[in-house]
Amino acid sequence: MEDNRIEITICLGSSCFSRGNKKTVDTIKQYIAENHLEEKVYFHGGHCFGSCENGPKIKIAENIYEHVDQNNVIDLMAKFFDL
Ligand code: FES
Repeated sequence: MEDNRIEITICLGSSCFSRGNKKTVDTIKQYIAENHLEEKVYFHGGHCFGSCENGPKIKIAENIYEHVDQNNVIDLMAKFFDL
């Protein structure tokens, strides 16, 4: 079966985790639940992406975003979903 889900990988390396991704995980989970995206998203944690000084980072599809926080992550995700 083809998997058309959009993959979201949140960096859970120690730098990104301690600088905000710990909370951003909850923001993303909440966004997925509120918008009923469970079937459309494959959300999971990942290891350090490198260049931690530009973190916190997340990857959506093939795009890596830097300096992510609980506010701008919503806008980043919204680009990928037709809500
Ligand atoms: S810990 Fe996230 S990029 Fe290194």
